[in-house]
Amino acid sequence: MNILVCGGAGYIGSHMVKMLTEAGHQVTTFDNLSTGHREAVKWGKLVVGDLLDEPVLRQLFADNRFDAVMHFSAKSLVGESVVEPAGYYRNNVIGTLHLLDAMRAAGVKRFVFSSSAATFGNPEADRIDENHPQAPINPYGETKLMVERMLRDYADAFGLHSVSLRYFNAAGADPSGEIGESHQPETHLIPNVLKAALDPQQKLKVFGQDYPTPDGTCVRDYIHINDLCQAHLLALGYMDNRAGAFGFNLGNGQGFSIMEIIQAAEQVTGQKIPYESCDRRPGDPPILVANATRAKKELGWQPQYVNITAILKTAWDWHRKSLF
Ligand SMILES: NC(=O)c1ccc[n+]([C@@H]2O[C@H](COP(=O)([O-])OP(=O)(O)OC[C@H]3O[C@@H](n4cnc5c(N)ncnc54)[C@H](O)[C@@H]3O)[C@@H](O)[C@H]2O)c1
Repeated sequence: MNILVCGGAGYIGSHMVKMLTEAGHQVTTFDNLSTGHREAVKWGKLVVGDLLDEPVLRQLFADNRFDAVMHFSAKSLVGESVVEPAGYYRNNVIGTLHLLDAMRAAGVKRFVFSSSAATFGNPEADRIDENHPQAPINPYGETKLMVERMLRDYADAFGLHSVSLRYFNAAGADPSGEIGESHQPETHLIPNVLKAALDPQQKLKVFGQDYPTPDGTCVRDYIHINDLCQAHLLALGYMDNRAGAFGFNLGNGQGFSIMEIIQAAEQVTGQKIPYESCDRRPGDPPILVANATRAKKELGWQPQYVNITAILKTAWDWHRKSLF
């Protein structure tokens, strides 16, 4: 297939571009490089442009006949979304609306969307499945939920079929070490733990050690980036003979506390990881773990990386080199 990957210069998108290319698809990345990296686009074609620029999008669809679109582009810093909501609604909601309308005009019918566990808000269960109420507690989560709702309506009204994949925490890097996670600023735990291993000056901050969890630190679900991308490939195929807007939670279903991640990282890196205990951050639930049974059953998805040490090892191989 000929596939457009919006946000293909970012962390998850660049891994997707690699996997799609290796699976024999033709890929075009569309990215404004606001948080992505030109160096991460090593496969297929790169078109630099912004989803808010409608004429550029129209031209993109006029120049290419795409069979499907995968949409990874978003602003995704929860804290920033609280103080700067306008930029989030504009980029994540209006940008996506432009993209969907360009697809409609060009007759492209298949869409895979990067949604988020943030659409669920405060967890009411230790394992979150698709029946959990979606009640975001920050503008970032709201923007993702609004797009899911737009997709439901676009499926009904225009026959634009979609799969929304709600990721918990993407982690690790492609085992080749060619691409990996590089956000600026970095807010994700694993890269920050590894940066602290490389440079003790970059002391890790542990927010809250008095949560109702076995060691008092927050518990999260870490899913390897290539397992995540594999689910996107399966989602594309899922739409071969199904019509509608579908949603699946993606996680490995195991929770790891911050302390467990630090200990596993010490084992992988052979370094002591210095950290500083800080107060809890508002809005951080004690436990956030996916129940991905539906994705396994419906998509036939089977994550390969079940061991956190193996996930950390791929991230460490990348961070030691830090190519971009
Ligand atoms: N990383 C995670 O753990 C995680 C968890 C849940 C959901 N998500 C979602 O997955 C997607 C990818 O996340 P990531 O970690 O790879 O982020 P990222 O910031 O590395 O990638 C996003 C890409 O989109 C591009 N972009 C942003 N706005 C754009 C616009 N208006 N026009 C064109 N390009 C634009 C950026 O330049 C970047 O390359 C995001 O939608 C994010 O909300 C990520």
